[in-house]
Amino acid sequence: MDLSTAMRTDMCGQLSAADIGRTITVCGWVDRRREHGEHLAFVDLRDHTGVLQCVVDGSRDLRSEYVVSMTGEVRPRPEGTVNPDLSTGEVEVDVKSVEILSKAEPPPFPMDERTGVDETIRLRHRYVDLRKARMQRNLRTRALVNSTIRSAMEAQGFTEIETPMLIASTPEGARDFVVPSRKEPGSFYALPQSPQLFKQLCMVGGFDRYYQIARCLRDEDLRADRQFEFMQLDAEASFVTQDDVFEFISRTVADVSEAVTGERPAEIPEISWLDSMERFGNDKPDMRFGMELVELTPVFSDTEARVFQAECVKGICLSGGAESLSRNQVDGLVDDCKHWGAKGLAWMRVIDDDGSTKLDAGVAKFLSAQEGSDVIAALDAEPGDMVFLVADKRSMVRRVLGLLRLALGRLPVGEGGLKFVWVVDFPLFESIGDDGSPVPAHHPFTMPHPDDMQHLDDGGEALLEVRSQSYDLVLNGWELGSGSVRIHRADIQSRIFELLGIGVEEAQAKFGFLLDAFRYGAPPHAGFAFGIDRLTALLAGEENIREVIAFPKTQSGADPLTNAPGPLDSTQLEELGLRVLPSST
Ligand code: AMO
Ligand code: AMP
Repeated sequence: MDLSTAMRTDMCGQLSAADIGRTITVCGWVDRRREHGEHLAFVDLRDHTGVLQCVVDGSRDLRSEYVVSMTGEVRPRPEGTVNPDLSTGEVEVDVKSVEILSKAEPPPFPMDERTGVDETIRLRHRYVDLRKARMQRNLRTRALVNSTIRSAMEAQGFTEIETPMLIASTPEGARDFVVPSRKEPGSFYALPQSPQLFKQLCMVGGFDRYYQIARCLRDEDLRADRQFEFMQLDAEASFVTQDDVFEFISRTVADVSEAVTGERPAEIPEISWLDSMERFGNDKPDMRFGMELVELTPVFSDTEARVFQAECVKGICLSGGAESLSRNQVDGLVDDCKHWGAKGLAWMRVIDDDGSTKLDAGVAKFLSAQEGSDVIAALDAEPGDMVFLVADKRSMVRRVLGLLRLALGRLPVGEGGLKFVWVVDFPLFESIGDDGSPVPAHHPFTMPHPDDMQHLDDGGEALLEVRSQSYDLVLNGWELGSGSVRIHRADIQSRIFELLGIGVEEAQAKFGFLLDAFRYGAPPHAGFAFGIDRLTALLAGEENIREVIAFPKTQSGADPLTNAPGPLDSTQLEELGLRVLPSST
């Protein structure tokens, strides 16, 4: 693309042997300076396209990060000084004139890509950090993700609609950020945790297919994959089933992946929530590697080994583990499993005993010959492998072996390709609360599974068996997004509120506007939202979403650049009708 302007003819990184002989003007930051003899200096000039070697009069005071404009002739580099690692490595500029556009203090940290810099210092001077190739690449990847999302959604007939930021609370399960009202002291707006309720109102409003690249705010504990504010591709459509939603979203994430990596991912498989829990130990399976959890409860149904007399026994097999793991490492894994809540971790080596495959060491001595051979067969184990077994309550076995599987097999972000999977048939309720009412797994507008509708009246623990029409999209072990078919019928919605212990008045107070809207003709509808920060991070090979956000908050929620959050002055407080209590700590 031609990026020339009145101030420059070319971009630093775009010059090559084809430009030899041209007189050009480039602008940028001084990346590095090396003295060359008594009178000359090599100055690497940097803009966002790359660096260019410029040969200047050595007496010029050109320091690191000065902003300069240089005019000169492109010439081949002298023999032996060609740099094949650099796109501009064959040429240099014989500079005739230099203009300093802006002087700069020494940068707050080394500008090379290799030196590690404390994150708080990077964030305090983010404007300098952003000049580095990594941040340039990541934010450009993010822009490509956004523009590809827009094209994919528009191509499928979705209309972008902006929903408000100052709203009443949305039920996504996190704490709200709130904004005090000046006009009505003592009243507060909530910032949206998602556009959930508004997008459902758009469906009632006849916009069959809505989407938005939406900013969401949630006051929750921050982690590598969580920020207070983050972006979603948020979508909703009417007269659709779950499968239609999968088609829209699959196409969009495939287009995005292809735009960024050049490769179109395979068709996205589906796994039920229950299968995922049983085979991977969690609801966001990392499908880049196998090592699945294998059911061994029937093998130990009549066991004499006390360790395995439990509600559930499962195992995993680490290929080659008998050789690759030291005794110390195995002891470390046992400790990890205890820390995760297990009573212990049983392990055995798989050996070749005169032509027959046997279990050895660890708890092998407690197993009958039949149990041993059944374990080997079920786990498909071969000599040289290591097998790990956990016996406990089913939920604990899943959890601990799921974590062990990740500890043993997890690949770094950016390796192993892109393995998307739809997790379907989530339970409608996550648990039964202390007051006996079930706790919803998603938000309270999620449609129960049609085959389980009659079990809504069963009550008690049986409710935990009720499936919903909600689904997640998982990529390489990260939850990328969630969605559901919504309840659009007042009778089903009242029943769910009743089950959740939300009384008619409370429901009216919290979601009255939505319930009212549903009285005026609500189409069946369903939708989805995925996290753009997470998708971009995974595509960029970053472990932390902060690396793909221009101005993120630190882990503690602060912005070291602007010093937010900060106090308000007394006039502002007064206007808002607020008084700050002395801190209790
Ligand atoms: P949910 O709450 O599952 O669903 O959010 C959808 C996706 O948004 C991303 N996400 C986050 N990313 C960064 N930081 C956070 N704090 C954060 N919280 C969520 C995740 C997550 O999978 N309204 C529903 C969707 C629907 O039902 O249509 C919703 O917001 O990638
Ligand atoms: P113990 O009989 O408690 O000495 O345990 C013998 C071995 O079995 C040890 O290696 C324990 O870590 C392991 N172990 C104990 N309880 C369990 C369990 N519930 N599941 C799997 N392994 C266990």
